Amino acid sequence: MKVNNLKLILFICGTSVLSILSGCGEPDNEETQPQAPIVFQIPNGFPNPVYDFNNNEVNRSRFELGRKLFYDPILSRDNSISCGSCHQQAGAFSHIDHRVSHGIDNLNGNRNSPGLFNLAWHNSFFWDGGVNHIEVQPISPIVNPVEMDETLANVVNKLRASNNYRNLFLEAYGSDSITSQMMLKALAQFMSLLVSADSKYDKHVRGESGGQLTAQELNGLNLFRQKCASCHTEPLFTDMSFRNNGLDSTFQDDPGRALITQSAADSGKFKVPSLRNIEVTYPYMHDGSLNTLDKVLDHYINGVKTSTTLDPALFGGISLTTQEKADIISFLRTLTDHKFLTNSEFADPN
Ligand code: HEC
Ligand code: HEC
Repeated sequence: MKVNNLKLILFICGTSVLSILSGCGEPDNEETQPQAPIVFQIPNGFPNPVYDFNNNEVNRSRFELGRKLFYDPILSRDNSISCGSCHQQAGAFSHIDHRVSHGIDNLNGNRNSPGLFNLAWHNSFFWDGGVNHIEVQPISPIVNPVEMDETLANVVNKLRASNNYRNLFLEAYGSDSITSQMMLKALAQFMSLLVSADSKYDKHVRGESGGQLTAQELNGLNLFRQKCASCHTEPLFTDMSFRNNGLDSTFQDDPGRALITQSAADSGKFKVPSLRNIEVTYPYMHDGSLNTLDKVLDHYINGVKTSTTLDPALFGGISLTTQEKADIISFLRTLTDHKFLTNSEFADPN
């Protein structure tokens, strides 16, 4: 039994080449929490991250503090909503089956909660790119009246009143005088370490076992590279630009990027979302208006609405046969990173 357990651990470690969490130190006593060192590793083929970890050096106590905060409803006014309420691991940290965000007092927002992964490579946050640094991003949901409706000052007061948190901050940042900056850094550390790069597609690209694509998936990948990759660019499956993909032509419900730049030329433009883990982040688009990948493909084939800001790549839509559409969808399913979705290091620690 012992020997088998050890083999299993070694096997898991041996295959988690790209797991950012090198959970491969001492075999853990099953009774205690694994306390292996945490490291940030750039997956093969990925560019350098945007986030500068030198200003928030990675270590387990910071990661664990960030994780605890992420899952703690103490960040909301009535202690009912955590970040994890709207960002669920099984949905790649999107809000499973919710068209738009659903927050405090049962209030709805107007945008779909995106998946959270590979954020260390993002140079802007939110569908309209309204925030440009991951260390200030959490302020928005905390103070948003339809999300957590709390003030930073109150959150800090609640944390200071907790012996447990004072100890955790002392361990992580060397001081138990908790500040909002320390809290934001801990959240940023946890979120930046949510790296997803171990899907079947990734194994295929790296020539690893388990990466054998079927003929249909391979055909889908080739079609994807011709028809979709100009915006959903590998390896992150987004080029981080803002574009109008033809969902709307009036922009009255949500002008998108124009809200930030105040330029009419940006009306209806939204940040190109990554398509990693797309199988589990439904419903789709900034407004959650499309429920299935089938509907998304139908949109590109014959639903694109013309307007002055429509991306030129989408004039006239994207022509695909029924077979090609099915092939692309089967390829998109190879982007699901099951290890990421079930990694216990990212789960609610409580
Ligand atoms: C009530 C639901 C809700 C809660 C609570 C919530 N979020 Fe979000 N989150 C959303 C929605 C909706 C968006 C997209 C909003 C937009 O683009 O305007 C979003 C966007 C984000 C993004 C940007 C991702 C990207 O790709 O640009 C990050 C990061 C994020 N949330 C982290 C957090 C953190 C950290 C917390 C807790 C402090 C949190 N969220 C709490 C719903 C929520
Ligand atoms: C011109 C750039 C562009 C091209 C080409 C493009 N997309 Fe998109 N895609 C976008 C943008 C922008 C969005 C977000 C739009 C929004 O929500 O307003 C998006 C959203 C999506 C979504 C929803 C993602 C989510 O998390 O909600 C899927 C799925 C998708 N595209 C698949 C594809 C596929 C498959 C193709 C090729 C057949 C393709 N796209 C071609 C720009 C593009």
